[in-house]
Amino acid sequence: MKIIAPSVLASDFSNLTQQIRYVEMGGADWIHCDIMDGKFVPNITFGPIVVEAINGITNLPLDIHLMIEEPDRYIENFIKAGADIITVHQEEVKHLHRTVSMIKDLGAKAGVSINPATPVSMLSEIVEYADMILIMSVNPGFGGQSFIENSLSKISELKSLREKKKLDFKIQVDGGIDKTNIQKISERGCDAFVAGSSIFHSDNITGATIELKNLVTSLEV
Ligand code: DX5
Ligand code: ZN
Repeated sequence: MKIIAPSVLASDFSNLTQQIRYVEMGGADWIHCDIMDGKFVPNITFGPIVVEAINGITNLPLDIHLMIEEPDRYIENFIKAGADIITVHQEEVKHLHRTVSMIKDLGAKAGVSINPATPVSMLSEIVEYADMILIMSVNPGFGGQSFIENSLSKISELKSLREKKKLDFKIQVDGGIDKTNIQKISERGCDAFVAGSSIFHSDNITGATIELKNLVTSLEV
């Protein structure tokens, strides 16, 4: 099944309950929460308190993307707040195997992300332990950026690696996804699509969610 994960980063935070209802009505599968600390990335967003509030709004799985320094310090707090999936960045974590194990031991699914300038080869020793690999298709920090085309070959490379090693981690792509490019991203092997602006900046949030979902679901055999 192809997964649509709207990123609330682009939503109207003054009316988050309504915004989340709109994507739920559109068949969203997960809610993607971008956690930024002003250090790993230039922007600052929100922490576990807001994740806990979102957890009270929706029953959808919470997909927590940690763009922060020293994520180990906060993983337990995010899981207590309701995180179902925690993704950390390969570029930040010194002992990735330990961090991935910690996330799983605490009862969540573990994701590992790479920035646009990081090659897929950096993941070769961690893929068998991860539940999900997130390929960033923009430089993390802000919504509304353009999809970096080189990401497509990285998705293919990761899919080949998954096949070669006979693994079943999910492939997620995040950044610049909209109705014009989601099908080609899907064809390369993406399972979980993060979309912020193309959903929440639409005049019809529910309709935009349905449209993205239909574009990838129609490709499934
Ligand atoms: C960027 C974030 C993304 C962002 C995507 O650092 O990780 O999740 O919200 O936003 P769009 O879909 O607008 O590129
Ligand atoms: Zn994200």
